[in-house]
Amino acid sequence: MGFPLGHMIPRVLSGVQPSGNLHIGNYLGALTNWVRIQHDYESIFCIVDLHAVTVFQKPDELRVSIRDLAALFLASGIDPKHSRIVVQSSVPAHAELAWLLTCVTPMGWLERMTQFKAKAALQESIGDGLFQYPVLMAADILLYQAAIVPVGEDQLQHLELTRDIAQRFNALYGETFVMPATKLPAVGARIMGLDDPSAKMSKSATGAGHMVALLDPPERIKKTIMRATTDSGSGVDFETMGPGVANLLNIFQAFADWSNDQMRAHFAGMRYGDLKKQVAEMVVSKLEPLQARYREITSDSGYLDGVLRAGAEAVTPVADSTVRLVKQRMGLGA
Ligand code: TRP
Repeated sequence: MGFPLGHMIPRVLSGVQPSGNLHIGNYLGALTNWVRIQHDYESIFCIVDLHAVTVFQKPDELRVSIRDLAALFLASGIDPKHSRIVVQSSVPAHAELAWLLTCVTPMGWLERMTQFKAKAALQESIGDGLFQYPVLMAADILLYQAAIVPVGEDQLQHLELTRDIAQRFNALYGETFVMPATKLPAVGARIMGLDDPSAKMSKSATGAGHMVALLDPPERIKKTIMRATTDSGSGVDFETMGPGVANLLNIFQAFADWSNDQMRAHFAGMRYGDLKKQVAEMVVSKLEPLQARYREITSDSGYLDGVLRAGAEAVTPVADSTVRLVKQRMGLGA
């Protein structure tokens, strides 16, 4: 694969940190979208463990989380015959390119990152890795000359930074990087917290009633949804409903793939208790097959090893050739 030539099929790349529980917000907002588009592109889905260690992770738990996440990708329908599932730390070029890009990135750009500011505010001492986090993300993307990066709104600033870094490198050293486009036009559903529908469902939230994790047992799923925050009304009114009711309907619609008309016809006037029961049943019925696939995948560790090895082997030549080109442009190496 030659560079800086483009490739025939545009490349898609996205990444998820192996920390915390993957939940229905991740699934409906990102994974189902990836599964839908994976055959139209050359797809790389990265388990960004080097990003995870920007804050302390217990080694044994991290090891498990990495494999769990890979298994959940597969159980969600990522097809390893076509898409590459890559553990970031297993391809050294990610870290190498990150360093090279760090050297063309002004500190001022990183100081402006809102995610850094938010995370730094929670830490007693701020690791340099947390500061460099967006440069490593830029490296993930530019390493593969990815054209399309499907991410949520919260990552758009990082994507803009990636473009700025690429542009600056190209200006300093000559055309090297393909400029990644912004996110896909079709984004998935935006699922809010079940305990607080004003904030997006988040892996790092700690409240007991906040999320439905993909691996939650049916009883727990039912309990969480039955306790979800609604509003002071008693039946579904599409004109006046608050964010809690809207969120429940959203979850149902995303899983059931119903039209707006179907939703209205079925749910208008329904009492909240019945709405919740139906949402819970829908979620359980859609997650059960996913959980069964997950159990099957994790019962055969050789299979998962093979998928991850094949992923790393497939992308390494592309990654290495980018790093080679970048070093050449910079005058590094013999
Ligand atoms: N920072 C992203 C997040 O928190 C994860 C990520 C790392 C990523 N590298 C990436 C996403 C490359 C897209 C492309 O969600």
